[in-house]
Amino acid sequence: MNTITLHPTKTPLTGTLQVPGDKSISHRAIIFSALSEQKIRIQNLLEGEDVLCTIDCFRKMGVCIEKQGDEWRVQGVGLRGLKQPSEILYCGNSGTTTRLLMGILAAQNFESKLSGDASLNKRPMKRVMEPLSQMGAQFSVEGEGTAHRIITVKGGHLKGIDYTSPVASAQVKTALLLAGLWAEGETSVTEPSLSRDHTERILRAVMCVEADSLKVSIQAVQKITLPELWKIPGDFSSAAFFIVAASIVPGSEILIPDVNLNPTRSAAAGVLKKMGAKISFEKESLLAGEEMGDIRVSFAPLHATPIQGEIIPWLIDEIPILCIAASQAEGETIISDAAELRVKESDRIEVMCNLLSQLGVSVEEIKDGLKIKGKALLKGARVQSFLDHRIAMSMAIAAWVADGPMTIEGVESVLTSFPGFWEIVRYFSSKPNNYSTKAY
Ligand code: S3P
Repeated sequence: MNTITLHPTKTPLTGTLQVPGDKSISHRAIIFSALSEQKIRIQNLLEGEDVLCTIDCFRKMGVCIEKQGDEWRVQGVGLRGLKQPSEILYCGNSGTTTRLLMGILAAQNFESKLSGDASLNKRPMKRVMEPLSQMGAQFSVEGEGTAHRIITVKGGHLKGIDYTSPVASAQVKTALLLAGLWAEGETSVTEPSLSRDHTERILRAVMCVEADSLKVSIQAVQKITLPELWKIPGDFSSAAFFIVAASIVPGSEILIPDVNLNPTRSAAAGVLKKMGAKISFEKESLLAGEEMGDIRVSFAPLHATPIQGEIIPWLIDEIPILCIAASQAEGETIISDAAELRVKESDRIEVMCNLLSQLGVSVEEIKDGLKIKGKALLKGARVQSFLDHRIAMSMAIAAWVADGPMTIEGVESVLTSFPGFWEIVRYFSSKPNNYSTKAY
């Protein structure tokens, strides 16, 4: 396990930083390119471990995916060209890889096996297996409830269903829409509230997809045709760590160019603005069907605001770092309607509650969220990341304003979504000698 100790410098963050490509779109760029019949060039693909797992799984199914210079090239095999993998498809820490692949594997005329790391193997997959079984796929699971779970998917002929999902989940919705590419008849998914909508945007650009806010429907197609160059905007979820850092460290002012500002992804900026943060979106444009722009942030005193309701799926990945913002805001922040946090890479409600208490924050765990009292003076502490990249990065930002050294265990998890994170932390820290890393 790798450990990093950060000594508080309280140095303002000033300057420009680039965040890597959007994780959700990177997975989808690999998937849709692999299913096309073309050679697709992809720019600014996130080279985080989650996306590398998706690449590896498609390579195991016979898809040629290579990096040439700064670009990735995928030679699509078409909707009927995937080959049976001879090995287990290892999805690492990536729920997106597993659930999206399940939708595809459900429709293939072969059997395949999926597994992942100890965190992923405990995450709920029935939410995808149940509707895909209703469509005609067969699943069997070995080692359920253990760190060694292996899921076998026996795919075949699928029939479309009209499915009402109990959860607002882009992964569930996408798995079913992907299966619908091969299914007989129409496949529809209705969500309780809208989850991130990258998949519908991509599908709408390449075929006829009907969407009335909460219901999306798709018919099978013979072929997927894509533009030959796919440019991916920066990941708002990665930017969020530095948006919060600049908002809570006095004297900060940063610019983060070319970030995905799709409203189903960037809602945390709206919440922070309600808390008093000084954030503006500049040079807004469209890139491959997604809103993109620069984000300017400068320090401002924050105050509590409720974080709840239908907006939660639009900022679900940002809640750990919003908890750090809440600890630095005057008043009590109540986060609710966020029970999904319990089934992310870690139980993010329990973990954030324990970690914030370790830092000296008055915090209460509730069934579907947290109550956090600010503004707190954070203590330095030795904390774990629980194999969860977003927990490790949130603790690193907390360290910026803590009054003692913070040691974070399990920092290798950051590679899941944000290679380069520590270089940016180092860049903004004016006292590099105060920054030390140690591997165990
Ligand atoms: C993702 C969807 C979200 C998010 C995850 C990526 C996606 O999960 O938490 O990091 O790319 O579809 P759910 O929408 O399933 O909660």
